[in-house]
Amino acid sequence: MYILGIETSCDDTAAAVIEAKDGFNKPFFSVLSNTSYSQVAIHKKFGGIVPNLASRAHLEKIIPTIKEALRVAKIKLDKIDLIAVTRGPGLMPSLLIGINIARALAYRCRTPIIGVNHIEGHIYSNWLKPIRENPKSEIRNPKKIQFPALILIVSGGHTELVLMKNYGKYKIIGQTLDDAAGEAFDKTARLLGLGFPGGPAIARQAERWKSEKNTKYQVKLPRPMINSKDYNFSFSGLKTAVLYLYNDLIKKYPAKKIIPAIAAEVQNAIVDVLTAKTVKAIKNLKPKTVMITGGVSANKALREKMSKEFKSYKIPFLMPDISYATDNAAMIAVAGYFSAIGGSASGGNYLAKNSWKKIEANANLKL
Ligand code: KG4
Ligand code: ZN
Repeated sequence: MYILGIETSCDDTAAAVIEAKDGFNKPFFSVLSNTSYSQVAIHKKFGGIVPNLASRAHLEKIIPTIKEALRVAKIKLDKIDLIAVTRGPGLMPSLLIGINIARALAYRCRTPIIGVNHIEGHIYSNWLKPIRENPKSEIRNPKKIQFPALILIVSGGHTELVLMKNYGKYKIIGQTLDDAAGEAFDKTARLLGLGFPGGPAIARQAERWKSEKNTKYQVKLPRPMINSKDYNFSFSGLKTAVLYLYNDLIKKYPAKKIIPAIAAEVQNAIVDVLTAKTVKAIKNLKPKTVMITGGVSANKALREKMSKEFKSYKIPFLMPDISYATDNAAMIAVAGYFSAIGGSASGGNYLAKNSWKKIEANANLKL
């Protein structure tokens, strides 16, 4: 089955072609192309994503991006068996561009079309082998993915701990009460004048700080809710704490010293909380697999800390390849595949949805 994935939920215009077969027992995926056009240059000067500019850029780039995905995959549109498109959650003006083009292509070629939940797409990024290991690819770790799986989703808009009981069966056990982890990176980076997107900018400063091994400017930030009894998170207090800390230190030290020091501590604080809550869930719920996913799962410090901390629990720990951690269309195609073979299709509705709580997992889009 050849699947064209289309993703336009936020600020990446993405299209991918995957080959998928062999159902639930021994799924096989080969990523034939994974193309994406980033809008960072457009939104950078505003310090965040401007929805109307995002949708305009999607409109401009969506056809070239799809054409490129088909060209790289060496496949013609009429050979595509299924179109999978993100229907939400995300920015409504952005979502509509992807859904509309997907429906038009499906109508033109009489191809079945399926609406995919973006967050479920992130979950399935863990099923993909890096593109360089293709095309001999099977499912990435066939024996390693066993249910129930505990999944930490950390993106720009979402921070959730999910128990995946089986394909398409999810229970959100914890979530952020305010800002998402990626949002915390983005907002604190903006306060420190580090630009957008904030996650990679904070990570670069933190690396710089580590390499300097400078202990003179010791800074400490809170670890919000790290000891709370539930699996919830709260990151909004972090930006206020960063603001106070910065205003205090800037009176005594040069900015080029304290900014990397604060950035490193922001990263440590977020990584500590995410790790502690996931460990707590591992201990209490005894999952058979643990995974992280979403843009923040590209963070090196998080990957290293979790790999170390989870070792003693002797359960497989999966992280997506970096190329599939941030938004991409290959993951949408995989989620579309599982949905099409009965993983989670809930039928009927093709409307864009912007919230994960209200969205049914995936839905068949009727033409
Ligand atoms: O999953 P994603 O690409 O888009 C959403 O669905 O939101 O996640 C984007 C988020 C942004 O907040 C960005 O700052 C963060 O992921 N991010 C990172 C890193 N790369 C991206 N955060 C920390 N470290 C990174 N290396
Ligand atoms: Zn995402």
